Amino acid sequence: MKKIILSACTLMLGFAAFAQVPQLGKNKISDVIAAMTLQEKVYLLMGLGDQNWTNPPSGEKTVIVAGEAGRTWDIRRLGIPPTALTDGPAGLRIEAKPKDAKQTFYCTAFPTATALASSWNTALVENVGKSMGNEVLEYGSDVLLSPAINIHRNPLCGRNFEYYSEDPLVAGKMGAAMIRGLQSNGVGSSLKHFAANNIETNRTTINAVISQRALREIYLRAFEIAVKEGNPWTVMSSYNRLNGFYTSENYDLITTVLRNEWGFKGLVMSDWWGGADAVAQMNAGNDLLMPGCNQREELLKAVKNKTIDEKVIDRNLERILTFILKTPRFKGYNYSYHPDLVAHAAVSRSAATECMVLLKNENNTLPFKGIKQVALFGKTSYRFIAGGTGSGEVNYEKAISIKDGFVNAGYKVLPQLETIYTQFIDTVMTNSKEENKKQVVDFHAELPLEKAVIEAQVKHSDVAVITIGRNAGEGWDRKASDFSLSETEKNLIKDVAEVYHAAGKKVVVVLNIGGVVATADWRDLPDAILLAWQTGQEGGNALADILKGNVNPSAKLPMSFPMKYEDVPSAKTFPGEPADNPVNAPYEEGIYVGYRYYDSFSVPVAYEFGYGLSYTQFAYSDLKLSSSTFSDKIEVSLTVKNSGKTAGKEVVQLYLSAPQTEIEKPAQELKAFAKTRLLKPGESQQVSFTLDTRLLASYWSGISAWVAEKGTYEVKVGASSRDIRQKASFSLPQTLEVEKLHHVLYPNRVVKELSIGSK
Ligand code: BGC
Repeated sequence: MKKIILSACTLMLGFAAFAQVPQLGKNKISDVIAAMTLQEKVYLLMGLGDQNWTNPPSGEKTVIVAGEAGRTWDIRRLGIPPTALTDGPAGLRIEAKPKDAKQTFYCTAFPTATALASSWNTALVENVGKSMGNEVLEYGSDVLLSPAINIHRNPLCGRNFEYYSEDPLVAGKMGAAMIRGLQSNGVGSSLKHFAANNIETNRTTINAVISQRALREIYLRAFEIAVKEGNPWTVMSSYNRLNGFYTSENYDLITTVLRNEWGFKGLVMSDWWGGADAVAQMNAGNDLLMPGCNQREELLKAVKNKTIDEKVIDRNLERILTFILKTPRFKGYNYSYHPDLVAHAAVSRSAATECMVLLKNENNTLPFKGIKQVALFGKTSYRFIAGGTGSGEVNYEKAISIKDGFVNAGYKVLPQLETIYTQFIDTVMTNSKEENKKQVVDFHAELPLEKAVIEAQVKHSDVAVITIGRNAGEGWDRKASDFSLSETEKNLIKDVAEVYHAAGKKVVVVLNIGGVVATADWRDLPDAILLAWQTGQEGGNALADILKGNVNPSAKLPMSFPMKYEDVPSAKTFPGEPADNPVNAPYEEGIYVGYRYYDSFSVPVAYEFGYGLSYTQFAYSDLKLSSSTFSDKIEVSLTVKNSGKTAGKEVVQLYLSAPQTEIEKPAQELKAFAKTRLLKPGESQQVSFTLDTRLLASYWSGISAWVAEKGTYEVKVGASSRDIRQKASFSLPQTLEVEKLHHVLYPNRVVKELSIGSK
């Protein structure tokens, strides 16, 4: 009896103690933190290691969503659940067929970021984000590690397909739209990779050396826009060093700029195993270390030795807990595990049609007229490259090939070619020693075709379509040789063009690529060129929609296509120095990235920034400014009319040329853009933009401020950066210091920056 009473007492005491333990969501966050042991604190500052971690200290199941990139630590006694972090950015990346699972977990592959940016349609990107985020929610994850908005500084960067543009306004606006779409589901986004992660070679050590001005105007600017307009739950610091310090260890970057200057309130996590010094990361405000585990001992020791202040840890924990409180897992969301994949495929397809850029269309080759039989050349015609490789790859069920797209659209494709190419593909797959064979065909050289084979097709087909494919991905940069088309590819285009043109038939080249390639040395040969990008699992259907004329192309380039790789302003210094094993990457082109360089230094390009054709034409008129003198803002308006015969949408771009009395500036910079609704022939739309003082300003690093210089500003509105249709100007009577910032992030080495004076 005595024993029973005693046990009951112990139990009651236990309950009392348990009842007193603060619970996340019920008690103040500071009380929850105060109730943690030091070990719990340190464990919560990092994830639970990678998925191969065999002995999780908690004894809990390691993985909460099969295929997750990582998860946060859980402390059940304090009501803190684990949360799942999963990759993007072109769709949710989880395991499609986990062992012993009773169902599949396929996700939708959406167009890659580069492709999405080509739509110049932020509403479309937001909508894609909404569908993507729904899969994140319904499959049980809490955060999509997306969007990635690093600048396309050099076309060889292996991860460019995951990024949007060479222009910070486009990258920032697209990133913000993606964040809004994703987070509308009540899941988080992780804006990455902060910052200046433009090189994959030696990505975990390379030091990007960038002037303060180039940082502020180009590399940080995109993040600033996305943070302020998208409000991501989390930001991911990058792998690289920036001006001497790892970004994840850089207080100036993560705290002074991101939090204090831009007002970011969320959580900062490291990239996977990024940085070197956990104490420096904690101090910098890099709250969460991913995937975690390996720094536990180091941090425990640091707290005990007082090399880190426990208050710093508590501050970071507060941000982690604030994040966890928002997650579906904390809220006990009842995942269906059945997102509407059919609806999302439709979103992916319609987005893809708005992402494909028509580069050439001589004699209205497109849309097809009277075409029934199509000769499909090139291995990639039979295996569409939906997206790039690495963590950005999506485990989708099936990608519609270009061949499938044509067949679905009612065209006949020539069986002999199909047999030749499918046999080639099968042989490449069979002979490959790779374990993951998904991409072996993408990376394999093109099949050389005898001219006689091409000649045998011509009488059976009404048109020839040649697909050129390229893939790339995380962890490595492309070579200049990959930028050029191979001899086999060029011969294929030449031979097909000769044979088909001799028979009076047209040739279309389709580019199924993730990054910029050379076009200048072969583009005269075909009649039409369609840049299909890597547009997700519905790419083949979307392409057929465009070629058939069901959809009028309305995409434009979010980057420049140079005449040759050597013309790229960073070509001489990419990836870095020394060239064979780079340590430093001097960004010597400074602010002259992409069109800012080509336009300021009058360098010809193959296709300029903002370029893209349509099946119709648009007339621009009535450009009006609300005033000819700038005080605090100026409204710009104009009319865009569909003056052609086909319904279509137009991307309207506003460039500004600022006075260069005090400091040099790019010849022009994109300051606003808009996409019209679908305009019927003859229909017009009024488009308006607002220019505020910040849009006039350049960054003066000497005084750490954004300054708008007095003088005359020219507003240029057009269909591309080199197709300006309307101009007007206004004056700013006084030089204005628009925003004073901190004198931080200066280079640790001398950067010999390019200057107009050195032209
Ligand atoms: C990549 C990130 C990715 C993370 C998790 C890293 O290697 O750089 O973009 O989110 O892995 O998979």
